[in-house]
Amino acid sequence: MTIISLSLLRNFSLLVLLLSISSSTAYSSHPLDPLTSSEIASARQIILSSPLFTSPTTFHYVGLDEPDKAEVLSHISSSTSRHAFIIVRSNNQTHQLSIDLTASSIVSHEIHTGSGYPILTLEEQGAAIMLPLSYPPFLESLSKRGLDVKDVVCSTFTVGWFGERQLLKRLIKVLCFMAGETANFYMRPVEGVLIIVDLEAMQILSYKDRVQIPVPKANGTDYRSDKVGPFVGPETKPGFVVQPQGTGIQIDGHNVRWANWKFHLGYDVRAGAVISLASIYDVDKETYRSILYRTFVSELFVPYMDPVEEWYFRTFFDAGEYGFGLWASPLQPRADCPTHAEFMDGYYANQNGKPVKVSNVFCIFERYAGDIAWRHTEIGIPGETVTEVRPEVSLVVRMVSTVGNYDYVMDWEFKTTGSIQFRVFYHSPSAFIA
Ligand SMILES: *[C@@H]1O[C@H](CO)[C@@H](O)[C@H](O)[C@H]1NC(C)=O
Ligand SMILES: *[C@@H]1O[C@H](CO)[C@@H](O)[C@H](O)[C@H]1NC(C)=O
Repeated sequence: MTIISLSLLRNFSLLVLLLSISSSTAYSSHPLDPLTSSEIASARQIILSSPLFTSPTTFHYVGLDEPDKAEVLSHISSSTSRHAFIIVRSNNQTHQLSIDLTASSIVSHEIHTGSGYPILTLEEQGAAIMLPLSYPPFLESLSKRGLDVKDVVCSTFTVGWFGERQLLKRLIKVLCFMAGETANFYMRPVEGVLIIVDLEAMQILSYKDRVQIPVPKANGTDYRSDKVGPFVGPETKPGFVVQPQGTGIQIDGHNVRWANWKFHLGYDVRAGAVISLASIYDVDKETYRSILYRTFVSELFVPYMDPVEEWYFRTFFDAGEYGFGLWASPLQPRADCPTHAEFMDGYYANQNGKPVKVSNVFCIFERYAGDIAWRHTEIGIPGETVTEVRPEVSLVVRMVSTVGNYDYVMDWEFKTTGSIQFRVFYHSPSAFIA
């Protein structure tokens, strides 16, 4: 019995393997597909072997250089060559390049001279926040306040120039907090200390300890349920959706089809999710009708609007400075997304230009909210009662981006009625406590 079921299982997995091979070879790439891991690797190779970049070069943006809309709309995928758009820093200058991946050549190159800076890399932020921990004036500020350096964590706050015009430098403020007995360190700032880091030199450029404000107690700030217990009284029971006939979602590469919808879903390190070519089936005309060409979050601006010296610069561009795709949280099955969700991965280039995978960057699932899309009961016909009920089912594309202490849950919900609803749910440890 055991042997039989094992061999059945083996045949079954062989079948699944064959199916997945044939479906992956059948998929012909789409001109809006994000760069693959190997395309990112070739882009890096082309840049690093160019005589333009003999000095140390860091990668701040690597993504698809999209073909023109007209070309996409009339595309025959095999004839579309693939281009990458790249922003690197080298010799303290910002270079913008377009690369032909098919021909392995640089198509355009310019040095950016206006205002504005590229997305911050994870690596340079990681290095900047370590600087205060061994900086003697900061250690002195800590001991004046009676704080232990082992509980200090620092964080990078926006980019810009402060006071005087220093367009060539990339500067960032670093602020520090006390963790230790709480994970919610944002509630416990070492207020009054201002550190400006020169990201190119990777050193502290200026330091100021202006005012001492007591650090709030850790007690009562934590949000971890293993520390503070459950948040609601009686727990809800776990639940899941059963789909006896399987899923209604078809995913082929980055193309998604569901009910009367079809669209393309791509990942970008700056924008996060990019939805393109969303069309809906028109029953009367028996053909698909375009609803939108492309949609993504272009920016999320978070200005704190407090003019004091420690706060005036807290004006974040969460997509343009930090990168929604860069800070995407890998989605946790059965927690971030329901049990029946399907997942997609993304790839970005790290500071060295090497591809990094973000697993489960998107989830896609059918939402059964228990609502009614449309109904009518007709009792006006003598001797007859006509009741027709159409349950509401929609398709959700979800990603979560965690920028600092803000978690943005972004849902694109496709409804069979033809509308797309975009919602951002914002969560934060500070907001939870408040
Ligand atoms: C870049 O600028 C930093 C200061 O911002 C300086 O220390 C460094 O030497 C410069 N590097 C080059 C290659 O000019
Ligand atoms: C934290 O506060 C609670 C009441 O709010 C108190 O019972 C507990 O003793 C406090 N813990 C510490 C370590 O001060």
